[in-house]
Amino acid sequence: MSNEQILKDAQQHSDWIINLRRTLHKHPELMYEEVKTSQLVRDTLDELGISYQSGLAETGVLASIGSGDGPCVGLRADMDALPIHEETDVPFRSEVDGKMRACGHDCHTAMLLGAARLLKEREADIKGTVKLLFQPAEEGGAGGKRMSDEGALDNPNVERIFGLHVWPQLPSGSIGSRMGTFLAAAGEFDIIVKGKGGHAAFPHFTVDPVTTSAKVITDLQTIVSRETDPLNSSIISVTKVHAGEAYNVIPESVHMAGTIRALTMDHFNWLQKRITEAATHIAAASNCEAEVKFPGNAYPPTINDGELWGRVQDFAEPLIGGDNIHEIEAVMGGEDFAFYTERIPGVFVALGIRNEELGTIHSVHNPLFKVDESVLSLGSALHVSFAFDALNG
Ligand code: NI
Repeated sequence: MSNEQILKDAQQHSDWIINLRRTLHKHPELMYEEVKTSQLVRDTLDELGISYQSGLAETGVLASIGSGDGPCVGLRADMDALPIHEETDVPFRSEVDGKMRACGHDCHTAMLLGAARLLKEREADIKGTVKLLFQPAEEGGAGGKRMSDEGALDNPNVERIFGLHVWPQLPSGSIGSRMGTFLAAAGEFDIIVKGKGGHAAFPHFTVDPVTTSAKVITDLQTIVSRETDPLNSSIISVTKVHAGEAYNVIPESVHMAGTIRALTMDHFNWLQKRITEAATHIAAASNCEAEVKFPGNAYPPTINDGELWGRVQDFAEPLIGGDNIHEIEAVMGGEDFAFYTERIPGVFVALGIRNEELGTIHSVHNPLFKVDESVLSLGSALHVSFAFDALNG
């Protein structure tokens, strides 16, 4: 069957896909709380007669279409929202104050459900198994790691995996990606600088953690600018600094925190080491103590398989034209699709949603983020084409 036919059929289901997306959009749920989202996924799979396993990674759903045996291909969507208060004017805006699906994960889930419907209609033609991974907690909770650890890629073993992300930097209906590293390794740091508090009029009786923290912050910036190869992209951003409460009191301690980004795990680990050394030594030189921690889940870089990206371009070209396929630069954002590509070949593709007339021009994680929903059916079709290319191609 042709990819053109798959796209035509996907477009027939466009309203159905958009409807699912809008329902999800109205009811955002944060990481590992995707209870209603997971329910909607399961209800929809039930309606379509597709079997699945639930309860992976708390709220994850793993659906399976085809023979149940290998070869096996994986298609992935994430389901979580962000703690952002929506400020768009869309009629289906978030009904929960302070929560918003501001990274398009509602679109990703709806597109994968669209793909599920198209694949079920063609189940007899599938030579092997297509696994659909609806995962929680992409936004920092490493839901992809838990899905992988809890067996989502096993039995039958997923040999290749595909994921899409809506991309406001690319024009609607176009796609983009690149061979190799596409998204950065990402992680967090916490630094507590401890001194000795006291009256701000008698600084000599205190050990000031504020001035010491200022030195630490300045020095952290030179790890990237002075110690790292300028062609090796990396970031250390201090994003939180919490010190005292009063005008006339030098506080006991200062807490600062931020993010680390790198294009390789080696460099990421080295940045962690240098942050620890810089903070503790500078603190010691100023009679303070620094405690450095790396909380949360460090995401590895998302590394695309070059051959798979080539195949996506081959099957997408007749659908959207070569001019709408872009080689794009790596970005320093993190993405937990990385936990799959760490284990098996995969490709993560950006799906353009930028349409000036519709005002879908705002970046993800922005309270004004909006999506050109007319491209969602294309996303579903790309998922299905990837599956058939991998299994039957
Ligand atoms: Ni996202």
